[in-house]
Amino acid sequence: MTALPTTAFIDPTGDNHDEIKALLSQVTTLLLEEMSQAMARSPLPDPLPLSQLQQQAQIPHHSVPFAQLLEQVRSHIRHSMNAAHPGYIGHMDSIPTTLSIVGDLLVAALNNNMLSVEMSPVFSRLEPLVMQQLAAQFGWGKGAGGVMVSGGSLANLQALTVARNLHFNALEKGIVGLARQPVFFVSEVAHTSMQKAAMMMGLGSQAAIAVRTNANSQMDLDDLTAKLAQAKTANQQPFALVATAGTTVTGNIDPIAEMSAIAHAHRLWFHVDAAYGGALVFSPAHRHLLSGIHQADSITFNPQKWLYVTKTCATVLFKNFDTLKHHFRIVAPYMSDDSQWANLGELTVQGTRHPDILKLWLSLQHIGIAGYADIIRHNYALTDQFVSAVLARPFLQLASKPQMNLVCFRLAPPQLDDAQLDDAQWDDLNRQLQQFLLLATPLAKDKPLSEKQPIPVFLSLPIYKGQRWLKAVLLNPYTSAEIITQLFNQIDSFVANSFH
Ligand SMILES: Cc1ncc(COP(=O)(O)O)c(C=O)c1O
Repeated sequence: MTALPTTAFIDPTGDNHDEIKALLSQVTTLLLEEMSQAMARSPLPDPLPLSQLQQQAQIPHHSVPFAQLLEQVRSHIRHSMNAAHPGYIGHMDSIPTTLSIVGDLLVAALNNNMLSVEMSPVFSRLEPLVMQQLAAQFGWGKGAGGVMVSGGSLANLQALTVARNLHFNALEKGIVGLARQPVFFVSEVAHTSMQKAAMMMGLGSQAAIAVRTNANSQMDLDDLTAKLAQAKTANQQPFALVATAGTTVTGNIDPIAEMSAIAHAHRLWFHVDAAYGGALVFSPAHRHLLSGIHQADSITFNPQKWLYVTKTCATVLFKNFDTLKHHFRIVAPYMSDDSQWANLGELTVQGTRHPDILKLWLSLQHIGIAGYADIIRHNYALTDQFVSAVLARPFLQLASKPQMNLVCFRLAPPQLDDAQLDDAQWDDLNRQLQQFLLLATPLAKDKPLSEKQPIPVFLSLPIYKGQRWLKAVLLNPYTSAEIITQLFNQIDSFVANSFH
């Protein structure tokens, strides 16, 4: 065993306790040094040079000293996407709660397995109990529940698979040989995981029928009614309707209550993809935006987004949890059975699964509903400021009327009308602005944030309705009104330099 480093494992007899303690203390020192100085790095640093990565990727014959590894990790941190930076506002990636970092570390040390109750006796019980509590936040009663999965795409796949299995009684016999092709309806701006789900369910991606949206990125109900009628004549069998609560690009919310009535009238499973917007149930001032969500049969909700829990942390919730048991469960006979607690690996696509519940539970306990409501209030205040600043500038255009803390906008100076610039040139103009905003000088450690020294800001550049837009997601609790003011000062100076 001489080649084995003495800290390869935490000795269960305590023999290397002090060495491990020293190692972990170096880790926490590095973590704090880097994360509490996140603002000194760019929100989107340059990637590590490829030659360095190639060198590091080699698998060594002998143990590399930990101090050397730690320095390499430091360089990884410095070149990584910097979600903690208050200027990193381009995606639904959030600064993580402290206790979700702690939760990840602790469950890694325990290495339990959500596959079965005996492999994770505490977390296999805690997860369903917390899922019931979450379900109650969405207005569901007894009998509701859910499971955790690795991301919103898997949550959507699982919900739609249950819907399909229920509708076609397909758990055992599948869907081969059906007289009509199974289809479901989503808005044209729904997340691409809908098409992936259709493809993986063996229906083909076109089975996710795209319904047109209105000017505000919400599902157009007239088009939905028309598409439902067309399906009948096209020999299709609709089985589900999906509403999005927080579209990925503009953060808009489909008309949930009206859609639920339509789903009910057509006997369709009603799924709400609230991967992003589900967090609004934690804000008494904003939860009305999800009104009607309690009518859903299933909900996707990702605490990894607006609840700031480290990735991955996602849930799929069912109004009637037994539906999942009857229309998805594949029993693993090699697992010991407990009639009260399900082996969760029988109820999810994944078998072996990380206990994401600990970091979610720790974050909910530590922050509480009131704490989350405070953050969401702050996010909305910044959004109001942001939207007012866009509206006050005739050279900026909004993609939709924001309903959440997402603002999608673009540079469209009226003097450069469509006759002068083609679509590609408009896109390029917005790309240039994005780069300009990102290249502001990072804030030096000892310098105060002031209007004179703009911080770099990362906005993403999604394609929406055929054009490039700039997207801001005002998630970070450290993004301040002052930073938004500076951002618009920067936009003004870009415009002044470019067009005069
Ligand atoms: C509305 C919506 N649904 C689903 C997803 C997919 O989630 P994930 O990337 O965790 O699979 C996203 C991701 O951004 C999303 O915005």
